[in-house]
Amino acid sequence: MKRSSFIGVICLFLVLMVVLSCNQKPKEQPKTSIDNAQWWKEAIVYQIYPRSFKDSDGDGVGDLKGIVEKLDYIKSLGVTAVWLNPIYTSPNADNGYDVSDYRDIMEEFGSMADFDSLLAGMHQRDIKLVMDIVVNHSSDQHEWFKQSRSSRDNPYRDYYHWWPAEKGKPPYRYSLFDAKGDAWQYDSLTNAYYLHYFAKQQPDLNWSNPKVRQEVYDIMKFWADKGVDGFRLDAFQFAAKDTTYPKFPDGFEKDFIQYYAMQDGLHDYLKEMNEEVFSKYDVMSVAEGAGRNFEDAHKLVDQDRNELNLAYAFEGVDIPKYEGYDLATMKEVFTKWDQEFAEDGWLSIFLANHDQARMVSRWGNDSEAFRSASTKLLNTFILSMRGTPYCYYGDELGMTNIDFDSISQYQDIAAINGYQKALSEGEDMDLFMEKLNFGSRDNGRTPMQWDGSTNAGFTSGTPWLPVNPNFAEINVQVEDSDSNSVLNHFRAMTQLRKQNPILVYGDYKLIMPEHPTVYAYTRTMDDKKLLVLLNFSKESSTVSLDKNWAASPILINNYNDLDIIDNSLKLKPFQAVILNIN
Ligand code: NOJ
Repeated sequence: MKRSSFIGVICLFLVLMVVLSCNQKPKEQPKTSIDNAQWWKEAIVYQIYPRSFKDSDGDGVGDLKGIVEKLDYIKSLGVTAVWLNPIYTSPNADNGYDVSDYRDIMEEFGSMADFDSLLAGMHQRDIKLVMDIVVNHSSDQHEWFKQSRSSRDNPYRDYYHWWPAEKGKPPYRYSLFDAKGDAWQYDSLTNAYYLHYFAKQQPDLNWSNPKVRQEVYDIMKFWADKGVDGFRLDAFQFAAKDTTYPKFPDGFEKDFIQYYAMQDGLHDYLKEMNEEVFSKYDVMSVAEGAGRNFEDAHKLVDQDRNELNLAYAFEGVDIPKYEGYDLATMKEVFTKWDQEFAEDGWLSIFLANHDQARMVSRWGNDSEAFRSASTKLLNTFILSMRGTPYCYYGDELGMTNIDFDSISQYQDIAAINGYQKALSEGEDMDLFMEKLNFGSRDNGRTPMQWDGSTNAGFTSGTPWLPVNPNFAEINVQVEDSDSNSVLNHFRAMTQLRKQNPILVYGDYKLIMPEHPTVYAYTRTMDDKKLLVLLNFSKESSTVSLDKNWAASPILINNYNDLDIIDNSLKLKPFQAVILNIN
């Protein structure tokens, strides 16, 4: 055969093969109930409070270079995204939640070059970066506010909310961080009051001003263009205000969620933000605070709304109180939120963050005997629920609350101003201090415990907040080399979640709702079913299982064994297991 006709036959054969394969019935895809998979649904978020994570230059304050040093550690956790609390220039009245320049890095944290290498280092390791965007308010040191307060006719005047004093005192508004609980601050420079829902150093931005909105979208695009992968919208549910300032019903003036959140205009702003920013980038967006009820939460995040992606609702994390909490309430709250979001919208799952005391101290038992088991149980919970899990730095180790007995030890503006307010209102200050010791945000902000060296390896200087004295036992170095540690259990859990999409997308069903000490639920997808059993007690608990589930393969267990007695399981104190009950 001539060379040219040989090539012709080959080509004909290839064409025939292509035609045949196109006519073939498509291969049966494995049946799956993953509708609408998204990377941010599958993400495991690790939250870093940069001030407390790792100090690279000995000034006692964590910084971006410090985080860069620890990227391999972060990767080793099996998390896939990091949410960084604010890193922008700030006078730090509220540790970065008072931004004075949204396009620059806080000096204590480093430079823009450090940020760029942090982002690049994360992306090299397949870790996404979510930025905190704080635009319900700015700092009073932001140029916009300096201009705004300088005169009544300054072009920036309407960037904030002002009330001219000649109209008398403005209608009462509550402030969460103000020492007098008053959200209006008088400013003699222009004889007017400005509004601040948080501290007086955090004036609220006027979102009804289109110029403010455009400024914010430009800032968000600046960061999205750099390549960040998401935004967490700080306190945004309060951004819209009824500027006629109606009087709230007597007794409800401080009802922050009911009367201050989700005011008219908010959804318009979010839709505009989505169109201007989110729709143009592959970024995730988180609503801090999910409104007054399920309807509000859905409106924020349902897919066809084109607003945000993930609800971050507080009803769960608000459950533990100084007086304790009820497992029945925990089951009820997490179950109802899951059921509400089973079809549309998506939830964040978390038990702690920088606004809370430590997870194990609030939800578990931080005594020597049970700290390890109960932290593992809580991490099993977070990583086996439907929704996107968030682990707060240090909770992968079982870091605990610190013990402060004097107000002078606290750094948090909420604690300090709250103390002043309680004092002036004649509260029982002993009780106040005990409650603060249990619930203060500073508990959750003590430096990361890396090793047993001075200051837990966090800094070579004086840490901005004391290191918890238990750092010799609870630290990365010790736990890394112990196969039974909280840290290695956390790693096993992230691994399990990543290998089993059922843990992300599978249906959740509460079982044994009446069991007084065990939180039990199934996760089901297609023909797979997992059973999660969590003994929230320092005593053993028995669960009788209907079917022959007891002897099912164990996917993860925070003890080395599981006591099976016929069709019952006897769970040890704080035992947490996941069984494959197909
Ligand atoms: C919510 C943040 O999580 C908190 O830390 C901050 O103090 C307030 N918003 C004010 O920005």
